[in-house]
Order: sequence, then C-alpha cells, then structure tokens
Amino acid sequence: MGKALEGVRVLDMTHVQSGPSCTQILAWLGADVVKLEAPGGDITRKQLRDLPDVDSLYFTMLNCNKRSITLNMKSEEGKRIFTELLPRFDVLAENFGPGALDRMGFGWDRLRELNPRLIFASIKGFGEGPYTHFKAYEVVAQAMGGSMSTTGFEDGPPLATGAQIGDSGTGIHTVAGILAALYQRERTGRGQRVTVAMQHAVLNLARVKLRDQQRLTHGPLKEYPNKEFGDTVPRSGNASGGGQPGWAVRCAPGGPNDYIYVIVQPVGWEPITKLIGRPDLADDPEWATPEARLNKLDKMFQLIEDWSIGHSKWEVLAKLNASNIPCGPILSTKEIIEDESLATNEMVVKVDHPERGEFTTVGCPIKLSDSPVDVERSPLLGEHNEDIYGSELGLGEQLTGLKAKGVI
Ligand code: COA
Repeated sequence: MGKALEGVRVLDMTHVQSGPSCTQILAWLGADVVKLEAPGGDITRKQLRDLPDVDSLYFTMLNCNKRSITLNMKSEEGKRIFTELLPRFDVLAENFGPGALDRMGFGWDRLRELNPRLIFASIKGFGEGPYTHFKAYEVVAQAMGGSMSTTGFEDGPPLATGAQIGDSGTGIHTVAGILAALYQRERTGRGQRVTVAMQHAVLNLARVKLRDQQRLTHGPLKEYPNKEFGDTVPRSGNASGGGQPGWAVRCAPGGPNDYIYVIVQPVGWEPITKLIGRPDLADDPEWATPEARLNKLDKMFQLIEDWSIGHSKWEVLAKLNASNIPCGPILSTKEIIEDESLATNEMVVKVDHPERGEFTTVGCPIKLSDSPVDVERSPLLGEHNEDIYGSELGLGEQLTGLKAKGVI
C-alpha cells in the first residue's frame, strides 16, 4: 500500500530529540528522510549507551525509517555538495543552536535562492526577543513554558514531567507546520519557513494553566485542592483542576505504582458510593452534588482510597469501568513495555538492528487507514552515502577521496 507522504523528500539535519522526533514521524508517514550528519554523527549515537560501540537506544528510538549520510558542512567541498543536494529535497529540517546554519553559510535567504520550493523547518528554544540566542533543552522549555511552575505539590519544588513535552512535543508541532506548508505549496508553488520554539510548544500544551491564571483574578480556584491562593496558579499535585475532579488513589499491595487515577463525574458519584460501601452518601445533601463535594475533595478521595487500598489497581480498573467511571491505573514503564494491547496496537514495537540485535521502540501514534506504518530500524552512520552521493549525485568514484579528506 502507498504512503501518505510518498514522494516527499526530507533532508534531515536534526539532532538529539526534538528534531529527530519530528522527522521520524514524517518518515513513518512515508517521506524519504535522509539524515545528514557531521562525519562524527549525531551526538546521541554515543550518549546513554547500554552496549559498547553500538548506536544507543536514544538514537535508535528516534531515527527509525531514515537513511543516513555524512557531510562536513564546515569544509568547502561539503558546502558545494550541500548546494547540489538541497534542490533535490522538499523539506530541510534542523534544530541546531541559534545561528549555526547561518554560520555554515546557509541562512534562509541562501536556502530559498537554492530551492524556492523548499520548506525550511527550524526548531529553536525561543522565539524572537531576549532569549533568541539561547540554547535550550527539554526541561529548560518546561521551565519557561509554564509546565514546571504548575507541576508538583504545593509544598515541594517545581517538577519536570517525564513526558518530553519540550522535545517530542515540539517535534509534533513541527510536523504540523511542515505538513501545512507542503499543502500550501500545492497552491502557491512556493516554499516557506516553519519555525517552532520549544517554549511556545510547551506553553501551548500548558494552555489551561493560563486559563486558570486569569480565573484567579475573580477568586480562588475552587476545583484545586489548595486552601490558599496567591496571585499565581499554584502547583496542585494530582488534581486535574479541570471541570471534573480527579486524584490518584492508592491500591494494594502499596508499591510505588500501585495507584489508580479516578475521575468523579456527576453521574459517577452514585455508583462510586455503592462500590466503596457508602450508599448513604448518594443522596446525602452534604455529598450528593458536585458543588457540595467541591469543598471536601480531599475527603472524597480519601473515602475512595479507603476502598481501593484493599484491591489491586487492575481490580479497581475493572470495577470502576463496569460502572463507566473514568480511571487509569498508573502503569510503570515495565508494565507498558510488556502490555499486550500496546503491542497489538503497534505502539510497542520490536525492531531488528544489525549491531544491537532486537530492540523495542515506541511506534507511531498517528494511524492512517490508507497509510500504514512499518517501523524499520535506524540507519548506521553514513550507511547511505553510496546511495545518495554515488547513485544520485554521481560522485561514486570520489567517495573514497571525500572520506579520506573528512568531507563525508
Ligand atoms: N558538519 C559540520 N559541522 C556541523 C554539522 C555538519 N554536518 N552539523 C552540525 N555542525 C556544527 C554546527 O555548525 C555547530 O557548530 P558552530 O557552533 O561552531 O557553528 C555545532 O555543530 C552544533 O551546534 P549546536 O547545535 O549548538 O550543538 P550543541 O551540542 O552545542 O547544542 C542544543 C545542542 C540542543 C542545546 C542546541 O542544538 C539547541 O539549542 N538547539 C535548538 C533547541 C533544541 O532543539 N533543543 C532540544 C534538543 S533535544
């Protein structure tokens, strides 16, 4: 079966996580993604290695379905080869530190001169302004995008979330920008620049906290468990702070992930009272309505926990869902990697790699009925130099010399 982005060619100069997470999705959607690396390779090939001299899981899990070429963009010959390469691609993606591509001699003006149809996608830490020239990593974006100040418990420090909203969150925003630009090019024939700042992507994901910042000016946030409010949205532990109250309650046997997150919708209260053995609370005016419960959410979840602590999270999951009560057991990474339904959904996928053998990766969460994803292994460094430089650019006979001179 064909793929959605068949025929779209992406020159992928991304590294680390944010950019590679974007181009990996483009590859899964069917684009021909050619990863251009410095002759030393993406730094993550060697970071967090679990096996000696083998591409790390950090790299292999973010660079599936791509091809790899090496090119020294700081050499004159490298720059010349790049100018030949660029017109053959629809998209150039990069997430270097600010100004790196300009320093190589390939700012946006030069790029569009070389290829007016080019979509040039850049990820940076920040937009225009005082931070433009600053580098950024995942948690820097979480810190400056509104996530850290609103994550954690009231009496503890700001916390980073394990989900990589700054890196992979920005990657997926960039996918959207690239696809929109490709679509617009169908009408205009022109390429364009796509920029996504990690701070902006995190802020977009933390949107509801800005909602609450404005609600604060009209009084305390009643849906939050906090008792006192200053002039900024507080950390609210595991409360959603949203329209329906929720909390993580403990389950048996009391291990670090023996918790289940329970949401109490208005219709859920009556069945919950039966499950927890307190049917008297269903009609008790002190408990019967969401408004009545609002000032004692901590007590409500304590009542639920007094019941849940006697059952495993899987039993609680089954019992709550039997009454149509939204809930989610806290799954450990081990439970996730062993989860049959995630494997069936091709979200936990096994891939063969010539150097490391079989490894497990996370599949593509975007499912298209006419464009199925086949997850294929990440490329070895420069594995496709021959294909691209030899077969496409006709440099086959020069490859040994180019390698010896450190150009590829
Ligand atoms: N050939 C020759 N040189 C190359 C090259 C190639 N093919 N590819 C990259 N380089 C060079 C660049 O020219 C640059 O050198 P310069 O600074 O002398 O101009 C250098 O390698 C890369 O610099 P940089 O991207 O700043 O790497 P870093 O390791 O110092 O910083 C980040 C890493 C992630 C902090 C930085 O890239 C960044 O802020 N990126 C944008 C935000 C981002 O995506 N962060 C999240 C990453 S998960």
